[in-house]
Amino acid sequence: MKQLTPSLILYLAFQAIIVSGHSWVDNVQRTDPQGQLVGEIGYIRNYTARVANQDVDEQNTHQLLNKSPEQIFCSAFQVSQFQANGLPGLKVSPGSQIVAQYLENGHISAPLSPASVVGDIYWFGTEDVSATGEDATTFGEVQSWKGGAGRGRLLGVNSFDDGKCGRGDLGLPCRSTFQIPTKAVVGSVYTVYWLWNYSGKLGNNTKHIEYYTSCMDVDIIG
Ligand SMILES: *[C@@H]1O[C@H](CO)[C@@H](O)[C@H](O)[C@H]1NC(C)=O
Ligand SMILES: *[C@@H]1O[C@H](CO)[C@@H](O)[C@H](O)[C@H]1NC(C)=O
Ligand SMILES: *[C@@H]1O[C@H](CO)[C@@H](O)[C@H](O)[C@H]1NC(C)=O
Repeated sequence: MKQLTPSLILYLAFQAIIVSGHSWVDNVQRTDPQGQLVGEIGYIRNYTARVANQDVDEQNTHQLLNKSPEQIFCSAFQVSQFQANGLPGLKVSPGSQIVAQYLENGHISAPLSPASVVGDIYWFGTEDVSATGEDATTFGEVQSWKGGAGRGRLLGVNSFDDGKCGRGDLGLPCRSTFQIPTKAVVGSVYTVYWLWNYSGKLGNNTKHIEYYTSCMDVDIIG
């Protein structure tokens, strides 16, 4: 029988963390017309940075296991329009193209089932959250923006799998893109919501419902 070497044990432990990890938006940044990342990096509300040997899943993950329209869209840790120490929100001008990065955490490289469908990412935005800094926007409200008009709107849809992450270097983040509306008002705060539909975790034709969300505030500058 093959001996388990220390490096193999470490590798297996790493794999276990990868497979059990969830996903959230780790950072956002503007791109120039050539698609290169430029400018300051921004973070979601109350983001907990990744630190070696520390599990930050609990702090950053927000999982929804039903479609109840009344449930609050953002994680309880991301309801307040608050940035954790030293990790500011994005500051960009109207019309900016934004790239978000998140880890695939095994959802692409080690799917739970061969029938797994990794699903799509939806980006939504609104200029109208609340005067109190507490975001009570519900799942149902955000879903209603898919149709177009409303207090907010759909900014973009991409596949969770960008075709590069989850192959070879498992630390390579996946990327997803959206655009800040050209009509966003300079000096205002524009709120952006990330919704990942992972309901196809066990295959497309199951009744399983599983969504993840991340919420962020963007300062619109001139
Ligand atoms: C920020 O997140 C932490 C958990 O990471 C939580 O304990 C804290 O209450 C949150 N702060 C706010 C203002 O939501
Ligand atoms: C969510 O994913 C499931 C499973 O892949 C799919 O059947 C459903 O149409 C998706 N829902 C939306 C709104 O994209
Ligand atoms: C799963 O369902 C989605 C949405 O209905 C569809 O776009 C996708 O092609 C399906 N994937 C597979 C593998 O059947």
